[in-house]
Amino acid sequence: MSWIKDKAHAELARIREAKEKQVYPYFRPFESGGLHTTIAGKPLVNFSSNDYLGLTNHPKVKEAAKAAIDRYACGLSSSRVQATTVLHVELEERLARWFHFPKCLVTTTGYQAMVGTIMSLADIDTTIILDQLSHACILDGSFLAGGVPKNGSEIRFFNHNSARSLERVLKTRERKNALVCIEGIYSLDGDQATIKELLEVCARHDACLVLDDAHGSGTLGVHGRGILEEHGLEGAFPTEKLVVVSTFSKTFGGIGGIILGDEEVVDHIKHRARSFLFSATLPAPIAAAANTILTMLEESGPELVAELRSKAEYMRTSLTQVGFDLGMSNTHIMPVMCREERKALFMHVALLENGVMMVPITYPGVKEGEERLRVNVTRGHTREDMDRAIELLQIYGEAFFVLSGEDIGPLEL
Ligand SMILES: Cc1ncc(COP(=O)(O)O)c(C=O)c1O
Repeated sequence: MSWIKDKAHAELARIREAKEKQVYPYFRPFESGGLHTTIAGKPLVNFSSNDYLGLTNHPKVKEAAKAAIDRYACGLSSSRVQATTVLHVELEERLARWFHFPKCLVTTTGYQAMVGTIMSLADIDTTIILDQLSHACILDGSFLAGGVPKNGSEIRFFNHNSARSLERVLKTRERKNALVCIEGIYSLDGDQATIKELLEVCARHDACLVLDDAHGSGTLGVHGRGILEEHGLEGAFPTEKLVVVSTFSKTFGGIGGIILGDEEVVDHIKHRARSFLFSATLPAPIAAAANTILTMLEESGPELVAELRSKAEYMRTSLTQVGFDLGMSNTHIMPVMCREERKALFMHVALLENGVMMVPITYPGVKEGEERLRVNVTRGHTREDMDRAIELLQIYGEAFFVLSGEDIGPLEL
């Protein structure tokens, strides 16, 4: 035995127990792509996908990726510094234009984009101020920046979405420069940032803002340009104080990060972000797929986003009428609150047995007592998909006392 083996064995106790009880929900292999797929030969509809506009599987997107494989192959075997193609450059220019920013940098994942952005901007003179519900990439970027020997930033948190709490932290910060990090839509709760109030506080305290709009790009705003478009705030905050980070792993149907901002600020990130410089380039077929989805967004006007919004509204109204608690959600991401780990796991297994996949989020992903099924409505779901999911949620919500909120007692699967 070794200490790493001892550690792994001890820390896997909960996972082993879930597997023994056959309620372990993660890493189940799909046998095809798309929202309608199979696991172990059984058909299922996936409500845990982030393919919000349902374009990942579109024939034009696949064709573009195939053509890029023929021209560039699957990988470019180096970092962007020496493996940039004309496709990457074209994509960056088009994204900057579409999002209405002076400059864009494309990275290999959204996670890298955020870590690299925070690491490049924050130093010993910076207080990084984070929403309490920040995504792991924001936390990790901040903790890395905080841990740099002799140049570490101060890290502070404010209460979720509270402009008052943010203001208190800004007033009591120790360092002269403030870097506030928020998300457009919070991914586990499906609620939007209180963006207007937060921007006002940032402006009052001369703070710079990093906005992670991973879940807002393609879903918020009439054209899908995100939370700033949604609230009529494009151009309202000085571009030189704002960096927007987003991803291709949701609406843009693949993988990859997007960094948008002022020309020099983005150029600085491009030359300083270690997560970008010391990791391989975004593969050309993925860049081609994102390029094609961007064309679709440009050509469709408001249509694609409107379709997603109307489906999400249908699901929200139906689930609310049935009596589910959807937490703080006001978007297409709707947590079905179970508030007990066993209830969330049992619901997940029962739904999966019936061909509907809704992945449970349990501790430590959320606090104990806030366990939930994370339901993502996408444009690719049909009315039949949603009706079947609602019917099953109602049946098992009653069976496992999610709807009544009663204690589940000694019930075992
Ligand atoms: C809010 C948020 N930011 C960033 C990311 C990271 O994006 P990517 O999947 O491109 O690494 C995610 C993905 O889970 C996310 O939910």
